[in-house]
Amino acid sequence: MNVTVFGSGYVGLVTAACLAEVGNHVLCVDVDPDKIATLKAGHCPFYEPGIESLLTRNAAANRLDFTTDAATGVAHGEIIFIAVGTPPQEDGSADLQYVLAVARTIGTHMSGYRVVCTKSTVPVGTSAKVRKALQEKLAERGADLPFDVVSNPEFLKEGAAVEDFMRPDRIIVGTDGPRPLERMRALYAPFNRNHDRVMAMDVESAELTKYAANAMLATRISFMNELALLAEKVGADIESVRRGIGSDPRIGFQFLYAGCGYGGSCFPKDVKALVKTGHEHEQTLQVLTAVEAANDRQKHLLFERITAYLGDLRGKTVAIWGLAFKPNTDDMREAPSRVLMEAIWAAGGKVRAFDPVAMETTRKLYGERPDFQLVDAPEAACEDADVLAIVTEWAVFRSPDFAAIKKLLRQPAIFDGRNLYDPAVVAAAGFHYQSIGRGA
Ligand code: UGA
Repeated sequence: MNVTVFGSGYVGLVTAACLAEVGNHVLCVDVDPDKIATLKAGHCPFYEPGIESLLTRNAAANRLDFTTDAATGVAHGEIIFIAVGTPPQEDGSADLQYVLAVARTIGTHMSGYRVVCTKSTVPVGTSAKVRKALQEKLAERGADLPFDVVSNPEFLKEGAAVEDFMRPDRIIVGTDGPRPLERMRALYAPFNRNHDRVMAMDVESAELTKYAANAMLATRISFMNELALLAEKVGADIESVRRGIGSDPRIGFQFLYAGCGYGGSCFPKDVKALVKTGHEHEQTLQVLTAVEAANDRQKHLLFERITAYLGDLRGKTVAIWGLAFKPNTDDMREAPSRVLMEAIWAAGGKVRAFDPVAMETTRKLYGERPDFQLVDAPEAACEDADVLAIVTEWAVFRSPDFAAIKKLLRQPAIFDGRNLYDPAVVAAAGFHYQSIGRGA
């Protein structure tokens, strides 16, 4: 099949590369000429395990190409994905200008039947707006051409996106009729393992499913984070509680880890956007409002604990392990590390940080500043630092040389935002160890 993907960001490129991998001819369109040049040269603009080899292999096999020319893109794909950004606006709602601009572009250039498929995370009701924008363009041209709009949200996790796409739990396809559904089923047939993964539904349900999934996962995390705070007060251990409740199959073990808050480009944005959609329909989503507030508070926890321990941060240095919002990505969007670092700087303290992948992103974000040093190994972060804070659970942090760290730190204290160690072991190594929900 010929497929076009508008938007060569994270979602767009993973979609394009994986669809090419199963034999489709995929053309990626992006307005950014630098990005297209980078991709044509065989490089991926972001870090994601497995993506670069997929891009290179399929480009070499002429199944994947990149262009800035929208007209060529519209002519190429019988299925056209819209995978452009939907950045949050100040009021929390998603900015749809790029999505609707693509819809108009398709309306301007199409000359035969097209399935237009929204892949970007867009609020309920967006597909209807896409349909309207496209229809208006056709009307301007005096063209009466058939098209269908489909909602096909993605459920990719950063760091595991290729695997998630190639081996999906489910493929949500929201359509208004049999014709686009048949095309989408054909496109996704190679990804059905053992049984049909496509779940067909109406467009609005597909749109809401995406938000409901992320909001449910964020809810689990905020719930556990609040319980962790309570566990500390009543002398319970949140890790025991997690195992205790996770073993109930109705609850399950995943996404029950207490920590220093959820980040990333999805949960914070999607929770906000769903609350906003609620307001627009005069429906207050009380649970989600609390989920967001609890997460904001949780992101400040490490800073509060560090200042409670160190007092005035002026003249003090905090070593930080882990900057990315989670392991296996270089993404710093809404990362808890940012809240911590910015609070330390505002209080006059310094930061020495290490991350296995996200240091370049961090450098771009904060530039050179006298109160910030990026170092190339975990131990180096502890040199001349007062205490250590762990923000991201990279595998490389799981089994440190506690004796060596103790010698380096001015005060032997570890503030662990990801519960990586057995508190008894760290205490026996001579540290003041504070994790989340497991006693002070
Ligand atoms: C999330 C969803 O998991 C994907 O299914 C979805 O497709 C994606 O958003 C999206 O909407 O595009 P992602 O943001 O990449 O994926 O990362 P997650 O693995 O979900 O982690 C999100 C945050 O929650 C991280 O900061 C992580 O540290 C935190 N988290 C996760 C916890 O604090 N506790 C947990 O138990 C799990």
